[in-house]
Parts: sequence; C-alpha cells; structure tokens
Amino acid sequence: MGWYSDVIFPRVYDWLIDTPHWATYRQEQLEALDGDILEIGVGTGLNLPHYPKHVRKLTTVDPSPGMNKLLQKRIDATGIEVDQRILGGEELPFDGETFDCVVSTVTLCSIPGVQQAMRELFRVLRPGGRFLFLEHGVSPDLKVYKWQRRLNGLQKKFVGGCQLDVDIQGLLESQSFESLTIDNFYMERMPRTHGYMYRGVAIK
Ligand SMILES: C[S@@+](CC[C@H](N)C(=O)[O-])C[C@H]1O[C@@H](n2cnc3c(N)ncnc32)[C@H](O)[C@@H]1O
Repeated sequence: MGWYSDVIFPRVYDWLIDTPHWATYRQEQLEALDGDILEIGVGTGLNLPHYPKHVRKLTTVDPSPGMNKLLQKRIDATGIEVDQRILGGEELPFDGETFDCVVSTVTLCSIPGVQQAMRELFRVLRPGGRFLFLEHGVSPDLKVYKWQRRLNGLQKKFVGGCQLDVDIQGLLESQSFESLTIDNFYMERMPRTHGYMYRGVAIK
C-alpha cells in the first residue's frame, strides 16, 4: 500500500474534495481563527486558502509524506509561513498551553490513536483556546450506521485509514472543555454514510 498511500491517494483525495461546495464550509469554519494556530492532519492544505488574511503563520502536523508533499504547493500559493511537522497527532512535540486555536477538518476519522490525539490537542490548547472542527462521523440513523459498519473495512483500506463510524461527540466530551457547540447535519452531495457532519467549536 506504500505507493498507493503515498502517491495515489493524496492526489485522488485532493482532486475529489477540492470543490467549491467544501470550500464554503471550510471558509465559514475558519473565519474566526486568531493567535497561534495548530492544524492537525493538514493533508494537502485545502484549508490554507481559507485562513483569514491576518493569519501569516501556522503549525501543522500530518504523518503522511505524500500529503505533506502536496501541501507545499498551497504553502507557496498562500505565502503563509508553515512550521510543517511530519508526524501524527498522538504525540505532539509542543509544550502544554502553546496554541490559541487547534483546527481539524475531516481528520479525526483517520487517526489510529484518536483518543490519545484528543488528549494531546486539549493539552496544547491555552485556557480559553478554541478547538474548531468540521468532521464526519457516526450517524444517528440506524440504517445509515449499519452501512457505515459494513463499509468500514473497504473505507479504511482505500481511503487513508478513514473510519466511517467514529463517535466524534464522545471524543469531544472525553475532554474537559468549558463549552462545546456542535452542529450536526448531512453534507449535501455526499453519501449519508460519509457525510454525517459534526461542525463546531470546543472552548478549553
Ligand atoms: C481525509 S484527510 C483530511 C485532510 C485535511 N484535513 C482536509 O481537510 O482536507 C485525513 C488526514 O489525516 C491524516 N492523518 C492520518 N493519521 C494521522 C495521525 N495519526 N495524526 C494526524 N493526522 C493523521 C492523513 O495523513 C490525512 O492527511
């Protein structure tokens, strides 16, 4: 799977999801960002063009060399200075209370040790800091959930380790955030198995 996951998947993913539709959601989710920012699972950098204009510096983590390679073209295009770390979110090499904002978009589904990554992102957030997320996860509809379970094997194998039925709300509630706002909806133009969304902000 090395060649597939390093070369093919990052390109196919980027092509499939670089749409005006997704761009609108990214833009809305990121417009209130400020201060020192960490993006986990940055992928090919599809969020970069949607960071507010005043954001000139960013720290990113993502363990995929193939994703990080494609990220470079968006770093060049946006001119944002990026401290790009090729590593997973489960062990962040940053002191506690380093960041004002942590961003994650369609990433929690792909992190093997996602519970540990949640602990880490909570640790590196400053008190009052915000975790902004736009994630897909487990559907409350039994029929959809059953299909999510059925499709998980294929999805994991061919879509970068992505799991369709991640309990995003449970993950968020596992940390002691002061406040948590979640907006749930089915993403238009996506299969319901892949598009039950959790969008919001958690404040430490
Ligand atoms: C579906 S892509 C999303 C990319 C990007 N966030 C976006 O919105 O387009 C999931 C990303 O999670 C990354 N990932 C996989 N394992 C990870 C881990 N342990 N820690 C952080 N990111 C990880 C993958 O390399 C991939 O770039």
